[in-house]
Amino acid sequence: MSSHLLSISDLSYADIIYLLDTASDLKEKRARGKTFDILKNKTLAMLFEKSSTRTRLSFEVAMTDLGGHAIYLNYKDMQLGRGESVADTARVMSRYVHAIMARVYKHETLVELSENGTVPVINGLSDLEHPCQLLADLLTIREYKGKFKGLNFVWIGDGNNVCNSAMLACALTGMKMTAACPQGYEPNAEILAKARALGGTINIINDPMKAAKKADILSTDVWVSMGDEEEYDQRLHDFAPYQINSKLLEQAKHDVMVLHCLPAHRGEEITAEVVDGPNSAVFDQAENRLHVQKALLLKLLS
Ligand code: CP
Ligand code: NVA
Repeated sequence: MSSHLLSISDLSYADIIYLLDTASDLKEKRARGKTFDILKNKTLAMLFEKSSTRTRLSFEVAMTDLGGHAIYLNYKDMQLGRGESVADTARVMSRYVHAIMARVYKHETLVELSENGTVPVINGLSDLEHPCQLLADLLTIREYKGKFKGLNFVWIGDGNNVCNSAMLACALTGMKMTAACPQGYEPNAEILAKARALGGTINIINDPMKAAKKADILSTDVWVSMGDEEEYDQRLHDFAPYQINSKLLEQAKHDVMVLHCLPAHRGEEITAEVVDGPNSAVFDQAENRLHVQKALLLKLLS
């Protein structure tokens, strides 16, 4: 396994299975109240250029649960916010902490951190990818479906960072993926090509009803990602037919599981009856961020 996690494709299929097995084991031990000090005296720096609820909390709790420590850093409060370079910041942070998790606007910032620092760098979401989210999604899918191979993973809506990581994750695990996106909002072409080169069967179409047919998994995300706020009105208009609602759910298999990385906007990309309904796995999915990230931290830090 690579010493950084910038893309879900930094992991092989074997790495993914190893992380999911470790995560399941840690999840079961946490439920029994077992505590650890494996990461005693290890510190994770968590650098944020954007808001977060799940990523921040789950990483901080993960470090606490493993006996280590996490420091939350808002870039605006750092010299980074006053013009210090990313490279120098990485060099300095590497003298203090054992790993850096960063949520950034430009994926390039993560690459710069990883190239100039000497500690593992974890992508906590960039404009291109959200690999930790997909690790949690994979754990949740395995818990509900017991397998990956041959499942129909259907993405509805924006071909964004989470969708990009989903294409790679599907390619790595043998799920067939169909993404229904409005014209002009398709996923990143280079990442699509990479997913196909990894052996992925990935269809990008514009028709959500057609995409949802025989879905084992229906997944979506917000229509307006962080950084896209200026396009709010245009996006709400363009994405209106791409809502996961009960009509769309009827197209899918009866036991379809519904995923959403959250935060959800009920009435926009998903209706309340679906996200709060019997097919929804979104809160298990959110919980699983904690368990997969613990597995990841153990792998990168111990
Ligand atoms: N899904 C996710 O990454 O949530 P946060 O933005 O709350 O971290
Ligand atoms: N695509 C969303 C995910 C939030 C967790 C965003 O980038 O804002």
